[in-house]
Amino acid sequence: MKPRPSPDRQIQALFPFALGSILVLGGVRLVLDNLRSRHGNVNGIFDRRMGPRMFVPEGDRIKDECNVFEGRWIWDNVSYPLYREESCPYLVKQVTCLKNGRPDSYYQNWRWQPSGCNLPRFHPLMMLEMLRGKRIMFVGDSLQRAQFDSLVCLLQSAIPQGRKSLKRIPPRKIFKIEDYDISIEYYWAPFIVESISDNATNHTVRKRMVRLDSVASHTKYWNGVDVLVFESYVWWMYKPVINASYGTPFIVREYNVTTAYRLALETWANWLEANINPQTQKVFFMSMSPTHLWSWEWKPGSNENCFSESHPIEGPYWGTGSNLEIMGILHDVLKGLKINVTLLNITQLSEYRKDAHTSVFTERKGKLLTKEQKADPKRFADCIHWCLPGVPDAWNEILYAYLLKDYQNK
Ligand SMILES: *[C@@H]1O[C@H](CO)[C@@H](O)[C@H](O)[C@H]1NC(C)=O
Ligand SMILES: *[C@@H]1O[C@H](CO)[C@@H](O)[C@H](O)[C@H]1NC(C)=O
Ligand SMILES: *[C@@H]1O[C@H](CO)[C@@H](O)[C@H](O)[C@H]1NC(C)=O
Ligand SMILES: *[C@@H]1O[C@H](CO)[C@@H](O)[C@H](O)[C@H]1NC(C)=O
Ligand SMILES: *[C@@H]1O[C@H](CO)[C@@H](O)[C@H](O)[C@H]1NC(C)=O
Ligand SMILES: *[C@@H]1O[C@H](CO)[C@@H](O)[C@H](O)[C@H]1NC(C)=O
Ligand SMILES: *[C@@H]1O[C@H](CO)[C@@H](O)[C@H](O)[C@H]1NC(C)=O
Repeated sequence: MKPRPSPDRQIQALFPFALGSILVLGGVRLVLDNLRSRHGNVNGIFDRRMGPRMFVPEGDRIKDECNVFEGRWIWDNVSYPLYREESCPYLVKQVTCLKNGRPDSYYQNWRWQPSGCNLPRFHPLMMLEMLRGKRIMFVGDSLQRAQFDSLVCLLQSAIPQGRKSLKRIPPRKIFKIEDYDISIEYYWAPFIVESISDNATNHTVRKRMVRLDSVASHTKYWNGVDVLVFESYVWWMYKPVINASYGTPFIVREYNVTTAYRLALETWANWLEANINPQTQKVFFMSMSPTHLWSWEWKPGSNENCFSESHPIEGPYWGTGSNLEIMGILHDVLKGLKINVTLLNITQLSEYRKDAHTSVFTERKGKLLTKEQKADPKRFADCIHWCLPGVPDAWNEILYAYLLKDYQNK
């Protein structure tokens, strides 16, 4: 019998990995190799003058009754990856697994196939049309930043040199596309509510304190954004309790993480209800991104992690790192909202992808792992973050499908 950690130990175990590898914005360096895109340049395929509605076949949209989060990964080395690691100059070292020495690239060749329908194929020009004149912002931690990075890479090859720019203005990263007047942004807020970890370039990691009753310092950045995509999970899961304050007088005490998470989401929900105009703004929430820290969960009897995994899990599978109580709180809070927030429930589909984490082919505190560290995957493999191209691209394909459905219904 392999020892199973107690739930408490699991919550604690989640974080030390994240700790070393959650990349501070300040450490993000742009890899400025100007390799031309060899893939995904669709300018030649679609004629802009045709108008956006002609880009996408009528049948190519998700049906209301289809649950796109239920399905399986299908091997597809013809259409995937949607862009190449070396052709996206905006990828950060943390996620360029091939460049960092990963021997196989199988993880790039899987397509998410819902059981009840097909996802529309991601067309960069269609996405640009839908976002024309708009701001889209991803709010959350480093996992959310990967989704931002993914979207930038999915789109950038369709935009000529000199007509796009990426700027780091902590706590934001901003990708601008001039010809379409689009701003794609990332905003660092690992707890969504205020916390002492909010400095994007220099945050406390072990010591954490959350203000459960306030989002005030963030909202000047969120106000008026056309599409907001929120996410927050792994930073909460350090210990079963977390130091936090709520209301007046200002008193810091330990809260159960689940209690704290609910209060934080309610604070966020109140802000949404008072400030979002559902006619003009859209709000999404990403469910938790799963981790693959304990191989005995999918391979009984083993005692490793995601390191050296090269294939997805064939379902059914749900890891204990994806806390169902937190999921339930998310469900309750979203259900109670007076405005529509679309939950993109990507946890299950990502659960299958034990093969797609950065593992030892990444960096820690701004430096690539050394040979010695790479040789010690038990200590150094990062089984929280994902390689790009990879799983976060699928999250964006789903986000695209939802935006498209809405756009075509107008
Ligand atoms: C794609 O996958 C198939 C099946 O595994 C394989 O036979 C083929 O060589 C692969 N093609 C490329 C270009 O990797
Ligand atoms: C980061 O912040 C801590 C305290 O908040 C401070 O002691 C430290 O000098 C800062 N580091 C940098 C690089 O500014
Ligand atoms: C965040 O930390 C950096 C480095 O310590 C500091 O220069 C910067 O002013 C801080 N930002 C904010 C908003 O406090
Ligand atoms: C909360 O803060 C107190 C005082 O700084 C500290 O002793 C305690 O370990 C903290 N609790 C957690 C869960 O970090
Ligand atoms: C915290 O959680 C534990 C175990 O789930 C429970 O026994 C306790 O009552 C909770 N405390 C609070 C303040 O909710
Ligand atoms: C997300 O999907 C999982 C199963 O795939 C389900 O258990 C969970 O309840 C869903 N979450 C919400 C908030 O609906
Ligand atoms: C929320 O979305 C549903 C389905 O798209 C729609 O029927 C409902 O009217 C919307 N509610 C609000 C408050 O916009």
